[in-house]
Amino acid sequence: MTVIEPGCTLGILGGGQLGRMLALEAKRMGYRVITLDPELDAPCGQVADAQIVARYDDQEAVAQLGDRSDVLTYEFENVPAASVQWLEAEGRRVHPSSAVLTITQNRWREKMFVANLGIGVPRFRAIASVEDGEQAAREIGFPALLKLISGGYDGKGQALVRTPAEAREALCRWGISEDVSAEPRAIWEQWVPFVKEVSMIGVRDERGTVLTYPLVENTHVDNILDTSIVPARVAPEVEEEAQRIVRAIGEHLGIVGVYCVEMFLLEDGRLLVNEIAPRPHNSGHYTLDACVVSQFENHVRAICGLPIAPPQLRSAAIMVNVLGDGSGHRLIGVERILEDPRVRLHLYGKRDARRKRKMGHVTILVEDVSEALALAHRVRQHLRWG
Ligand SMILES: Nc1ncnc2c1ncn2[C@@H]1O[C@H](COP(=O)(O)OP(=O)(O)O)[C@@H](O)[C@H]1O
Ligand SMILES: [Mg+2]
Repeated sequence: MTVIEPGCTLGILGGGQLGRMLALEAKRMGYRVITLDPELDAPCGQVADAQIVARYDDQEAVAQLGDRSDVLTYEFENVPAASVQWLEAEGRRVHPSSAVLTITQNRWREKMFVANLGIGVPRFRAIASVEDGEQAAREIGFPALLKLISGGYDGKGQALVRTPAEAREALCRWGISEDVSAEPRAIWEQWVPFVKEVSMIGVRDERGTVLTYPLVENTHVDNILDTSIVPARVAPEVEEEAQRIVRAIGEHLGIVGVYCVEMFLLEDGRLLVNEIAPRPHNSGHYTLDACVVSQFENHVRAICGLPIAPPQLRSAAIMVNVLGDGSGHRLIGVERILEDPRVRLHLYGKRDARRKRKMGHVTILVEDVSEALALAHRVRQHLRWG
């Protein structure tokens, strides 16, 4: 296990905001960064030393990224596992491994993996045909969430269905035919009447040490993360149970790097795992401002073979996502929100503020989470696109 020292080059597959924040932390620590993304001037490309503009499945470009990097990682889980496998086959050091990606980019495998650890998940069934859908309707019932097994994010590739007709319509829309021999392409998932959505960031190093960040409480709007509050307002037993789950998942995945586990908290205090992200996560952005060592720095440390740091929370915080709304590309109100010294602004350098596009986030450091929601509301009132 050799240490990849500062001065070496980190290669990042994917050039979005997660790559950008990772690159900024890596640069601060003295690393060089190169990213690969199909979009010219990608958020990460703007701050990296270099960007290769190519598709993630362009084998030659991926090989070039490998040639120019000392260690590689990816910043979103829809990068083809094959691209990571090519790099591994060439003997490149890639974290997390393609084995981790193969599980986490497939909702079906991921759910089976978690369930096999004896950890609770919503009831689910793989769907390859309309007939499977009818079977699931009898077994699991309505309301249900139909989710495409691969390729979805931020609520894309999901349908909430309340009746057999709605379920048939969604399956037809996705082209899931009556051919019973086909590979399952979707899952039928029980709709969970959760009391809270929570998530926890974990980091695991090459030696197998796992450290966990505090539990975060998340609110979603239209299936996209809207607000994260830390520490989560839950009983200490819930926090401990979440730590146990996150630790078990990290250990059994054998992941090296940062990962996030999204969970539903039920009325009776039980936690069900919703999904795993094998990378830094939107609900961990607060760590840049509120923790001694951020999720991004710990990711750099883990993949480079450096000691990972216990995530000490310096302050309670609330994070508010800033999404585009289609009404303009200039963010108005920045000077108003920055009048409050507790507010920290992060923008991702995206020019086109399309509706629902993640453009940035704001972290507000607070004494106490009870004041956080009012402050977040004020930030939202001042910010608009024009
Ligand atoms: N089984 C479920 N029951 C209730 N709500 C759900 C369920 N699955 C997903 N959701 C809601 O939809 C959001 C997005 O779903 P998720 O599976 O996390 O997909 P992704 O984040 O990849 O788009 C969740 O954060 C949650 O708010
Ligand atoms: Mg999710």
